[in-house]
Order: sequence, then structure tokens, then C-alpha cells
Amino acid sequence: MIDLNLTDEVIGLEKEHLVQSYKRPPFVLVRGQGMTVYDATGKAYQDWVAGIAVNALGYAEPGMVDAIQTAATGLLHTSNLYYTEPQARLAAAICEKSFADRVFFTNSGTEANEGAIKFVRKYHYDRGDHDRKEIVCFSGAFHGRTLGALSLTPKDKYQKPFAPLMPGVVVAEFNDVASADAAITERTAAVIVEPVQGEGGINPATNEFLKALRRFCNERGALLIFDEVQAGMGRTGTLWSSDPSGVTPDIQVLAKALGGGMPIGAILATEQVAEHIHPGDHGTTYAGGPFITGVASYVFERISQPEFIAHVREVGDYLQERLQEINSPLVKEVRGRGLMVGLELTVEVAPIIEAGYQHGLLMVNAGTNVIRFVPPLIAEKQDVDTLIERLTDILATTGATV
Ligand SMILES: Cc1ncc(COP(=O)(O)O)c(C=O)c1O
Repeated sequence: MIDLNLTDEVIGLEKEHLVQSYKRPPFVLVRGQGMTVYDATGKAYQDWVAGIAVNALGYAEPGMVDAIQTAATGLLHTSNLYYTEPQARLAAAICEKSFADRVFFTNSGTEANEGAIKFVRKYHYDRGDHDRKEIVCFSGAFHGRTLGALSLTPKDKYQKPFAPLMPGVVVAEFNDVASADAAITERTAAVIVEPVQGEGGINPATNEFLKALRRFCNERGALLIFDEVQAGMGRTGTLWSSDPSGVTPDIQVLAKALGGGMPIGAILATEQVAEHIHPGDHGTTYAGGPFITGVASYVFERISQPEFIAHVREVGDYLQERLQEINSPLVKEVRGRGLMVGLELTVEVAPIIEAGYQHGLLMVNAGTNVIRFVPPLIAEKQDVDTLIERLTDILATTGATV
């Protein structure tokens, strides 16, 4: 497995032939096991990124390998012209464990948000409410990078070069009830919010904020969309990250952990919303195919077990506790829920993440000053201990140089 020339060859090919849209560290990942990935030189990295909150069951999990092999011997793809069993069963399982009456499958989180925008528009269109075109989103939000979802991601760096964007977007302050109150009006078609913001820096919405959004939407005739792409699927120590608030949305979007590493997303909707979507209104060639939904059914079944979610809570609490104990002047705040935790520093985190590679750690930022910990949900307390030991060393070295 160890191939010392592979690293140079792969990086050379990448530099020459791929659109240079990603900044990558100088190693090539070749395999993974549990919480650990290995590069082409055999070096091991403890993985606190999990493919950006995706690989919920870790790498080479035997049940998932089995599910993939079984699904691969069945139908891979049929298009959505035909009924297939895995799609129907996954939709039923999701509805059973959520507020939703119906599900529409997509290939990604961004696509799920694009579909959600169309669902919202069709709902109001059918009701003759043709002037209700505005969508309220929040500061720090991330909903994707295609034009509709990008319009709801209020960050100049992402948006400015790609104007004109979708009209009718109103940006309110996250976790600010008065700001939401002012933004949500009789023209609002929908309000979209991440119950725990990911890319924006690991910011949990307060229960009070989510309850207020539900109330304003009800009073003013708008639909409420929860974007659970990153925070959903057990990551925050509850199946849905909105669960502690007791609030349910009209539409919820999922992706990331739902496929455990295979690309799948979903739009969950109440009957009141879903009844407005008819043949021809929305569609996709690939999404929800029998292979991917077969694998995702296994992942969903595993993740939605109460013991699995209790494990996430326990290890997540321990992670926050141990991060709080790090005695470094660089540490500003530890926040988050379950295994979605942010460590805010007083300095930019890029050099710390880079130093992590030498120490055998994969970490990712959320904004410039926050390290985001979104590991496989199978992480154990001893993995946390390893992280803390290595991170403490890195912060001590960095602290001495700033
Ligand atoms: C909250 C949220 N919504 C949407 C997306 C976009 O999902 P995808 O990258 O699968 O298109 C992301 C991705 O990070 C996300 O965190």
C-alpha cells in the first residue's frame, strides 16, 4: 500500500488537470479505518473532519461495506421513472422518525435547498399568493453554492463575483428575535435557518429564536425551512438539531451524514407543502436511486438508534469538557452540541490546522478563527484524549510564536 512516488504523481496531475478550486495539503489519502485515514506514505491521521460532517460511521465500517455490496448486486440506477423498493423504504423510515409526511430525494445538500425553494414557490403559487416571493435567511448562514442556495448564503466572498443572484432575499441577524420580527412580513414566502450553523462558525440557535421563527411564520403565512444538512442525523446529540427547541418546520433539508459518505440529500415536507408538487414540477435523473437509498437506509437505521445518539452526546460533552480544559491564551470559546463543536481562537486557525497534519490530525475551519470538530459519530473518549494531547502541543508551540 505504501507508494512513495504516488504523492508526487497525484499532486502533479491535480495541479495540471483539475480546476484549481480547492486548496489541499500535500498528501494523498488512500484508505481509512474507523476514525483514522492513511496517506500514500502510510502516515496515519486521526480524522476530526469526516469529509465535512459526512462519514458518520467512520471508514470501512463492516455493516456499511456489507450494505454497499448488497446494494451493488441489486439495481444501481433506474431513474425516477420507476418504483424501486429501497427508495420507498428509506422515505418511510425518515417519515417515521421526523415531522415529515413526504420525502423528495436529491444528490446533495445544495440541491435539496434548491428544491426547497421551488417547493415554497409552488405552495404559494397554487394558493394564489403570487406576491409572496421573499425568503428570509440569516447572517452567518451557509446553504450552498448554486445560484438559489448561494443567494441565501450572505457572504460577499461567495456571492459578489456571481451576481446577479436570486431576487427577494432578506437577511436578518441570526439569534436576534427583533431582527427576525422585522424581516418576516406578509411578503415572506419562507424563512430558512440552520438550527446549528456549521460553516458560519458552529453557532447553535437558541430555543427562543427557533420558537419565535415558528410563531412569526404561523402569524404571517410563511413556511419555515430547517437546513439540517450539517447538523442533522444525530450529529448534535439528538436526531435533528432542532429537537431541543420542540419546534418543527414545514420543510427540512438533509444530506451529508444521511449517506455516510455516499452522495444523497433529501427534502422532507409536511403534506400541506408536498401536496402542491405534482409530476413535472420537480425531478432529477439520479437522486434517490436504489443503490444509494439502499446504503442510506442502513446508515439511517444505525444513526437513528437511541443508543447511537446517546453515544454522540456523551463523547460530544467529553470533547467540549476537554477542550475547555486546554490552558492556552489562544483559546477564546468552546461551543456547539454533540459532535459538532467549535473552538474559537484569538488568532487565525489556518496555521494550527496545518500544524495538525504533522501531528497526525485532520481538522477543518469554520470561518477564519474557529476550528470545527465534526468527526465520525463513532468517535470514542480515547480519541478525544489523543486529540487534546496533540492540539495542546500545537497550541503551545503556536502560542510561543504569536
Ligand atoms: C447547512 C448546509 N447546507 C447546505 C450545504 C451544502 O451541501 P452540499 O455541499 O452537500 O451541497 C452545506 C454544506 O456544507 C451545509 O453545511
